[in-house]
Amino acid sequence: MAAIDDVIQYVEENRAKFEDELFELLRFPSISSDPESSDEMSRCADWVKLNFEQIGLKAEILPTKGWPVVVAETEREEGRPTVLVYGHYDVQPVDPVDLWDSPPFEPRRANGNVYARGATDDKGQAFTHVKAAEAWMKASGGPPVNLVFLIEGEEEIGSPNLEDFIQENRSRFEADAVLVSDTSQFGPGQPALCYALRGITYMEFVVTGAKEDLHSGMFGGIAPNPAHVVSRVLADMKDANGTIQIPGFYDGVKPPEDWELAEYEKLPWNYEELAKQLGIAKLSGEQEFPVPVRKWCRPTLDINGVYGGFAGKGAKTVIPSKAGAKVSMRLVPGQDAVRIAEIFETFVRERIPDDYQVEITNFQNSPATVIPIEDPAMQAGKEAFAKGYGKEPLLTREGASIPVVAFFVDEMKMPTVLLGFGLPDDNLHAPNEKFLLEDFHRGIKTSAHFLDAFARIKR
Ligand code: BES
Ligand code: MN
Ligand code: MN
Repeated sequence: MAAIDDVIQYVEENRAKFEDELFELLRFPSISSDPESSDEMSRCADWVKLNFEQIGLKAEILPTKGWPVVVAETEREEGRPTVLVYGHYDVQPVDPVDLWDSPPFEPRRANGNVYARGATDDKGQAFTHVKAAEAWMKASGGPPVNLVFLIEGEEEIGSPNLEDFIQENRSRFEADAVLVSDTSQFGPGQPALCYALRGITYMEFVVTGAKEDLHSGMFGGIAPNPAHVVSRVLADMKDANGTIQIPGFYDGVKPPEDWELAEYEKLPWNYEELAKQLGIAKLSGEQEFPVPVRKWCRPTLDINGVYGGFAGKGAKTVIPSKAGAKVSMRLVPGQDAVRIAEIFETFVRERIPDDYQVEITNFQNSPATVIPIEDPAMQAGKEAFAKGYGKEPLLTREGASIPVVAFFVDEMKMPTVLLGFGLPDDNLHAPNEKFLLEDFHRGIKTSAHFLDAFARIKR
């Protein structure tokens, strides 16, 4: 019997054990944006490290300027390829917590899913590779490649310290391919090989008028109102068609290539169904572009939150002292994230009248990336899906971001294979996040097959 057959058999025989361990991992409230999570973050990192040690890998927890990373590796052997697996053990906050059907950190099994914060993003998906490594270790004496794991704790806050950390330990993370499972399938049972991610620039601006809230009857007519200023600035940012009005915003934007457009035509989308799923009459945005182009290849600007004044129940007559907005822009190849932050800032400042003050914060800048699809690693990805899911993957992009991927691809020149095991309706970042357990197990097999295929193709 070939080694891979023993490995797959081990995966089959250990379904229950793997699920139990996943449930344990999901119990840690490792919310990276919450400074109070300190103990939980390190407890979670400890658990991950211990799990690596139990399967026979050398593992350590390494400090960064922020939350620690867990690094694990197999014995390095000369003359065989190296695969770096990247994932994140941090999760998003849980609010609004009253919209969850069960507590977010008490994993619940129902309809073949596990429900918990982090189930799909990214604990469940990242853990598939740990269990595939275990299967190779236990059933075959070790994987056919050198394996290095880098599991970080700051992805959900934009990986602010990871690039520096990798730079300082660069030789440890140099690899022939990077494997990441933090995206989605195209649909249930239809895997997707994702070859591009959008980047992101995230801004907030706060406008101040009077030094305190004022009675709107006593002072209305002479008082400045920052909520109106914020509204006007936001309204100026986009026209009714959704085209962004910030001068220079579209400079350098690389449109998708012809082969991509041809590929997108073939995708089994059902736009009516998608609109229905979202509870809207029709899909919004720049009508002159096809939906996949709007979703994946065009840059966007979205108000993520807007605040100021009284938003409680009933009426209260008040002129707010402060108002503000949080705005994210999704970027595509050809756009420079820092430059986008600068032109956004200029656009806002130019619109603030003299009798107001404005404070602008830039939370996040990361560029988009496109991964060359001709690389042998992509070939191994295709083969892995064909065997793990019994179905050839579709070639897709994603509209979301995984900040470090651009660094892997464009800085370190490492082909990065995004094997998405999640589903588009897994409720990531939302209440009732879930992961289909069948996808957990198929993911483990797909990962095991990837290592087998990559070792063969690279040899
Ligand atoms: N796993 C997601 C990214 C993702 C989700 C890719 C679905 C493809 C499909 C990741 O954890 C994430 O949420 N990224 C953030 C990055 C931000 C915090 C800088 C995003 O895209 O909003
Ligand atoms: Mn993620
Ligand atoms: Mn996320």
